[in-house]
This record gives sequence, C-alpha cells and structure tokens, in this order.
Amino acid sequence: MTQERFSIYRPIHKAIRHILFSTSRQLGLADFGDDAVTQETLANLDATIGFLREHRSHEDVHVHTALERKIPGITASFAEDHEEDDRLTHEIEQLATRIKSATGAQRVELGVEVHERYNAYLGIYLGHLYREETVLQQALWDNFTDEELIAIDGAIAGEIAPERMGLWLTEMCASYNPDEITLILNIVKSEAPPEVFQGITQLAESVMQPAMWAKVRARI
Ligand SMILES: [Fe+2]
Repeated sequence: MTQERFSIYRPIHKAIRHILFSTSRQLGLADFGDDAVTQETLANLDATIGFLREHRSHEDVHVHTALERKIPGITASFAEDHEEDDRLTHEIEQLATRIKSATGAQRVELGVEVHERYNAYLGIYLGHLYREETVLQQALWDNFTDEELIAIDGAIAGEIAPERMGLWLTEMCASYNPDEITLILNIVKSEAPPEVFQGITQLAESVMQPAMWAKVRARI
C-alpha cells in the first residue's frame, strides 16, 4: 500500500462544507418575521461569507502562487471561479443589507429570496471545492513534497490572527472526526505554549459531542 500524501484541501474544506451547510440550514429554519432571529441569521450569514472570503484569499496568495510557479496557467479557471464566488457572495451581502432595513411581509419575502440565492451559490461552490480537491490537489502532489505542502499550510496558519484562528478552530472541531482533531491538538501541544494548548483543548471540548471528546482526550 502506498503511503497517504498530505492533503492541503481535505481538512479545511471539511470545515468549509460544515459552515456552508450549517448556514443553509439556519436560513431554512429562520423566521424572518422575528427581529431577533433575523438579526442572528444575518450575523451568521455575514460570518460565513467572511470565512469564505478569507479562505479564498489564502488559496489565491499561497496555493495558486506556488502552483503557478511550477505550471503556469493551471490556476486560471480556479481564479475565475474565485471571481465568480466574490460576485455571488457580494450579491448575497447586498440582499442581506436590504433585509436589515425591511419590515413585515417584505422582510419575509426577502428571506425566501436569500435562502434561494444562498443555496444556488452553495451548489455552484461545491463543484469548485471538488475540482480543487482533485485537479489542483493532484498537481500539488505531482510538483511538491509533503514537507513543502505542510510549509504552505503553515504559512497560511501563520498569517491568521489569533482571534480569527479561534473561530476557525471552533468550526474545525465541530466538523472533524476524532483522528483529525487529535492530530491538530497534538501539533498545538508540541508547538504552542501550554496555555494556548489548554485554551484550544477547552474550546474543542465545548463544541464536541461528549463521546467524541472522550476519544480525543484519551489520545492527546
Ligand atoms: Fe477555492
């Protein structure tokens, strides 16, 4: 059996899919006749779009740049996808702004529209994620060693501010299996100060199901 290569996309895309589907569900459940629910739903939508934008930028700056140095032109269609992403998410944001200033039946109607537009976007974006996980991941494996890919991942992690990292880690802990979370916590344990490890461990425990947390705790 050949040894498994380091996947730059699989873990982060797992968190991204979790964020995407959680927001889809929340938009579906939302009562846009209720002020507090509307506010909370729009805040979550805003946070989701923020995660997507940040993730896109990490790929553009770190992954696409590295690939272009080896295979000029390989990321062109992916960069176009990112531009389309940017346009579609911006339209959703504009719709969210209209919802904020709407009231009554009009707000409920716009709520139906934002649910439809968001899910149309989600459908398009899922195809993009899969293309990255297959086409670009293969090109990365063919042109870089695992050590080099881990260094790219490290450069991305290194530019995320601590408060943003806390938010990303929350989504990761809520969407990874025990093996994946164990791996991350053990890296933090060996590389970060004990208080950082302790903080992240508490965060993981707070968002995980008890049975899953018990498995992770036994392995870190
Ligand atoms: Fe992407």
